[in-house]
Amino acid sequence: MTKPFRRRDLLGIRDLTPEEIRGILDTAENFREINSREIKKVPALRGKTVINLFFENSTRTRTSFEIAAKRLSADAVNISVSASSVTKGETLVDTALNLDAMDPDCIVVRHSSAGVPHQLAKVSRAAIVNAGDGANEHPTQALLDAMTIREHKKKIRGQEVAIVGDILHSRVARSNVHLLTKMGAKVRVAGPGTLVPEEFKHFVDDGLTICPHVEDAIEGADVVMILRIQRERQDSAYFPTLREYAIHYGLTNERLDLAKKDAIVLHPGPMNRGIEIASEVADSSRSLILDQVKYGVAVRMAVLYLATGGNVVN
Ligand code: NCD
Repeated sequence: MTKPFRRRDLLGIRDLTPEEIRGILDTAENFREINSREIKKVPALRGKTVINLFFENSTRTRTSFEIAAKRLSADAVNISVSASSVTKGETLVDTALNLDAMDPDCIVVRHSSAGVPHQLAKVSRAAIVNAGDGANEHPTQALLDAMTIREHKKKIRGQEVAIVGDILHSRVARSNVHLLTKMGAKVRVAGPGTLVPEEFKHFVDDGLTICPHVEDAIEGADVVMILRIQRERQDSAYFPTLREYAIHYGLTNERLDLAKKDAIVLHPGPMNRGIEIASEVADSSRSLILDQVKYGVAVRMAVLYLATGGNVVN
């Protein structure tokens, strides 16, 4: 099966160069202003069709991609798995081929298995954008986190970023480690020992430190990124109880006081208040959790625009 010349999939951050990451972020910054206009719509993707194919639950990501597509005047179609033929026994590739036969320009896919977007990219003519594949990658989340850091800290290079929580099952952590190390940040990860993957040792030469205690990761940090416990991806007990997790790893004001005075707090959502993050932190002025959601729309506008043949705007 041949791909159109201008197809540009976004399967993961792992495949991107720092220049490509910068290009997406610059384009997103340019699109951002559209979202504060009274008429939030430009014709950039008029006549293009975007399919949101979600095999896993999502509130933020699916809505954000749909709003992004509509603000650029694309026609957006949403498919969730319970309403699709997959429940009637159709294979993933057949579903993709059938959707592709309707000539969409882009298919945004989320699936609980790692590698599904890569599999679809092999058979589909439409550009494939990964909206989260199992515990592998969630590239647009890392891009919107990077945009939030850039907006508030001016640059990514040299920032000390603590990533705390369930690293093992987190596609957000994986995409962020790729992005932040490529862009020259210093990353420290911490969580229960059982939830920090062995593979992260490969990043040690690229500026990643694996910390034994949450406090070591947070101390002196410019950015503290908290992850949700991914209970749906855990097939055995990785820590005794949620209460114990909250006591030993939860981000409280006391723990956050170890970070720099002007440190910012990020969380990809959905957050579990009182478990990985205390409400007093989540609702404080240091928390940029809703800014992340806001920048997410601009990042997805940029990704859809570039995936369907647009050029970097800077
Ligand atoms: C994340 C996801 O689904 O990977 N959420 C999101 O897209 N904002 C993180 C999570 O579920 O914890």
